[in-house]
Amino acid sequence: MKKWFLVSLMSILVVGLLSACGTSNNGGETAGSGKEENGDKKVLVMGTSADYPPFEYIDTEKGEEIIGFDIDLAKAITEELGYELKVQDIDFGSLITAMDAGNIDLILAGMTPTEERLEQVDFTDVYYTAHHMVVSLKDSKIEKVEDLEGKTVGAQLGSIQLEQAEEINKTIKLKKIEDRDRIPQLIQELKTGRIDAAIIEDTVMKGFMEKDSDLTGFNLDTDEKGSAIALPKDSELTEEFNRVLGEMKENGELDKLIMKWFGGDQE
Ligand code: ARG
Repeated sequence: MKKWFLVSLMSILVVGLLSACGTSNNGGETAGSGKEENGDKKVLVMGTSADYPPFEYIDTEKGEEIIGFDIDLAKAITEELGYELKVQDIDFGSLITAMDAGNIDLILAGMTPTEERLEQVDFTDVYYTAHHMVVSLKDSKIEKVEDLEGKTVGAQLGSIQLEQAEEINKTIKLKKIEDRDRIPQLIQELKTGRIDAAIIEDTVMKGFMEKDSDLTGFNLDTDEKGSAIALPKDSELTEEFNRVLGEMKENGELDKLIMKWFGGDQE
């Protein structure tokens, strides 16, 4: 009697589980590519490269979760639009390919809209700006761009900073350009002397330099570079994202987030 009861209880559970899977897969099609349905809420998967404090990073002292300005911003926008947000950590250089393949629905990774990227993705309006910074160890006495002559310079793979290194190399003969997947790897290479300098965004370097007094840097005299949200080409979401982003700029929500993560207004 008891055994019979257990068996039927088990089968009820199994059936329950199966149908639960069924519903979570249903409706994905109607919501558009890459979107799943979770209960009533549609899920958007955001790709990011969590090596970029304070935009996106893992504070290992606090846990495993990816936190940062981009995460808060994405949460605010998707919540307003009625989506649930999931975050996936991917090397910066592979983000656009991942979205092309339909594995992620959007990218927030402090990504700068460039002509080249615009061939593959659409961008929202810019939500924050930064400058290129040349970073080195204080002892190395690299104080201006000319000092890079004969030096090994590193930058993140797939970033506009890597292109900037190539640009510099056209006029100032560098010894070598090195690329790495993640920003902390670049800092590590600097510390061990495998590279002499790295090109990284000033907004991100500020945090690293506050924690490490051996590091120093100067800004390059190039145009300001902005960060924007990347979405698949011709996605209907781009307009909706821009609308909410615009509202957040108007009502001070964006400034609040900038204050929280960068500790000040954008000059
Ligand atoms: N803004 C630069 C670019 O678009 C670098 C962004 C790097 N982002 C990151 N999460 N590591 O190329």
